[in-house]
Amino acid sequence: MYFDTHAHLDDEQFAEDQKAVIQRAQEAGVELIVNVGYHVSSAVQTVELTQKYDFIYGAVGMHPHEAQDLDEVSLAKLRELAQTPRIVAIGEIGLDYYYDLSPRATQQTVFREMIRLAREVRLPIIIHDREAHEDTLRIVKEEKASEVGGIFHCYSGSLAMAKEVIKLGFLLALGGALTFKNARKTVEVAKEIPLEYLLIETDCPYLTPEPYRGKRNEPAYVAKVAEKIAEIKGLSIEEVAQATLDNGKRLFKIEGDFKKASFPF
Ligand code: NI
Repeated sequence: MYFDTHAHLDDEQFAEDQKAVIQRAQEAGVELIVNVGYHVSSAVQTVELTQKYDFIYGAVGMHPHEAQDLDEVSLAKLRELAQTPRIVAIGEIGLDYYYDLSPRATQQTVFREMIRLAREVRLPIIIHDREAHEDTLRIVKEEKASEVGGIFHCYSGSLAMAKEVIKLGFLLALGGALTFKNARKTVEVAKEIPLEYLLIETDCPYLTPEPYRGKRNEPAYVAKVAEKIAEIKGLSIEEVAQATLDNGKRLFKIEGDFKKASFPF
């Protein structure tokens, strides 16, 4: 009953055994996956995955690393893909000042473009923010991203910022990093922020949780993140899994047996 809200199953690290990885996810109780594109080619593969597997949904967008590749042609293609039936978000988009693989000014322009696209097609956004908290929040506000809401993925900011993020109508997705020894700040966020604002994710093949750290990550390991949140909050794994599944379904408007119709913000 887990919802891995952030996977990159189209990554070349899964080229050899993608099918087996997806099967293991199902066996481990992963009920839903959102595969997140990071470029046009990745967005195309994401759409293909959503057509192949009924429990995989998708997001399309231009990652900050690839920001310099956004032009009129790629933007038009992303707009077209965003309107494919099982695409439920625009992502991943944002700012990365750690790697700085695209110039910061370009990252900011493209982040704004992607938020505008999300508002145009009425989809929530999946934000990547690495060492760019201030600019990310500023752009989110200036571009009125709260109109569509979304996720701060692999949340790595402070508790104070987390409170601001949820006030803006966004959810926080926690991943494998929560299980690392140096995760003090993120553990505090997981402890203090109510479960109704949290999601779980893998960001596979990256950020593998303990005790698998060092190996390639995969959706089946999302259970380890739920387990860690349960331990921190003093809840059962089932409660955490169910709540984060419901939160994700509500955000992405994924139907099925989900009863509540509206988002609580
Ligand atoms: Ni990612």
